[in-house]
Amino acid sequence: MIVACDRNGAIGKDGDLPWRQSTDLKHFKQVTMGSNLIMGRKTWDSLPGILPGRTHYVLSRGEVEGVEVITFEQALNMEGWIIGGGEIYKLFLEHVSELHRTIIDARVSDADTHFPDITGLGFTLTEEKHVVAGEKDQHDMVFQHWNRNL
Ligand SMILES: NC(=O)c1ccc[n+]([C@@H]2O[C@H](COP(=O)([O-])OP(=O)(O)OC[C@H]3O[C@@H](n4cnc5c(N)ncnc54)[C@H](OP(=O)(O)O)[C@@H]3O)[C@@H](O)[C@H]2O)c1
Repeated sequence: MIVACDRNGAIGKDGDLPWRQSTDLKHFKQVTMGSNLIMGRKTWDSLPGILPGRTHYVLSRGEVEGVEVITFEQALNMEGWIIGGGEIYKLFLEHVSELHRTIIDARVSDADTHFPDITGLGFTLTEEKHVVAGEKDQHDMVFQHWNRNL
């Protein structure tokens, strides 16, 4: 699973990310390149299109044009990164052993989508890197890598 959230766990606003954070998008690309991406239909709608070098799978109860739709059960039996959004993170959190979480050093005031609190779920922080905002970032950020045995 991979997510970027603010200091309060906010991840989305009006169907989009609440920040412009180029360094985090590069990090996302580096982690996910060559893998399957598993996402909710609303996150699919928020993407500019297919992200190169990755195979996209979307959870939906309907039909979605231009991408393969899978069920929750199918997704559980696949290798890949769960990339959101809020509904899909909640659904899969108890099933994942690895989490890349970027903490965006901000507090979005009017976010409408959040990532769950992972306290007490058995994750251990195995790596943490603080990064100062670059020219194309709105905020400083912390890249965290969490693992647990399921
Ligand atoms: N900061 C981050 O790292 C990050 C990452 C990803 C997304 N986001 C943000 O999160 C927001 C979107 O999140 P969201 O919670 O609104 O939507 P979402 O989780 O992306 O998608 C929800 C949709 O997934 C489908 N779905 C949910 N549960 C399902 C199930 N059990 N079986 C089959 N399909 C299922 C449904 O699609 P249908 O309605 O088609 O049936 C549902 O409407 C956006 O603002 C986006 O920018 C942020």
